[in-house]
Amino acid sequence: MPTPSPSPYLPFGENKNTSWYGRDIISVKQFQRPDLEYIFGVAHEMRGMVERIGTFNLLKGKILANLFYEPSTRTSSSFTAAMERLGGSVIPINEVRYSSVMKGESLIDTVRTLECYADVIVLRHPETGSAEIAARAARKPIINAGDGIGEHPTQALLDLFTVFEELGVGVVDGLTITMLGDLKYGRTVHSLARLLSLYNVKINYVSPDILRMPRELIEEIAAKGIPQAEYATLDQVLPETDVLYVTRVQKERFENPEEYERVKDSYVITPEVMKAAKQDMIVMHPLPRVNEISVDFDDDPRAAYFRQMEYGLYVRMALLAMVLGKA
Ligand code: CP
Repeated sequence: MPTPSPSPYLPFGENKNTSWYGRDIISVKQFQRPDLEYIFGVAHEMRGMVERIGTFNLLKGKILANLFYEPSTRTSSSFTAAMERLGGSVIPINEVRYSSVMKGESLIDTVRTLECYADVIVLRHPETGSAEIAARAARKPIINAGDGIGEHPTQALLDLFTVFEELGVGVVDGLTITMLGDLKYGRTVHSLARLLSLYNVKINYVSPDILRMPRELIEEIAAKGIPQAEYATLDQVLPETDVLYVTRVQKERFENPEEYERVKDSYVITPEVMKAAKQDMIVMHPLPRVNEISVDFDDDPRAAYFRQMEYGLYVRMALLAMVLGKA
């Protein structure tokens, strides 16, 4: 991971649209380019602080409730690490089966309970729209950590921050981004495609026919003038790709297990496949991976997916500080 340098982002004072205190983070539709530059500027500062001093007391006395109705390793633990690096503490509800949810408590009552004890709630839930429902019921900020096949806005923010930090702040306009794999159920690609549509990029979608990007999302992005194209194979677009965003085929979203078996290994990134790609491009993945990227590729400098996870810590530190009025 490159060492942080003096911030390449907008100085904080130059961004007028910076009032995130008390706000929910539900969808990437909430963000415009100045917001992103502000968030990434704060995240860049957080990275420098972690590298210099590790943990500091910006959110001392603040409490995060981490409420996860679906499994998570990265999102859950990076929000915990983010809060603890900022001097705050965490109520972890990573297994709702040990909570009163198993007695039939509703999402709204659960959120209303947790906000009695916490200053901010991070929520992952299997139903699209659940984060918005929770936010309407709650007085404290709700951060959407994934709502079914809907959105995963903090993942999209960390994904774009990864592109900025790896390829350079000024270069996003003009990039070709290729999204590969499960584009139907993959909420990370839904959020990321929306966020990228704020820039002058070209987006390629490569997927099996039954896992294509939702039509309404393609239309939404086309309305912003973004060139997009769909393919069934990677080889047509790999040589022009600057960012290859690989996704897992989401077994848990399939109703028919045979369909999953048929498409699960449609694409596998290997060192051999990557011979056709540029040397200065990057490969990203929100993780977890199953078979879609061979471990043989992990040591290639273009493999950015482990660095991407670390960038997520800094973005989540920035978001917590912002919604709690400390950035
Ligand atoms: N990328 C991501 O959301 O990972 P987890 O499911 O482990 O949180």
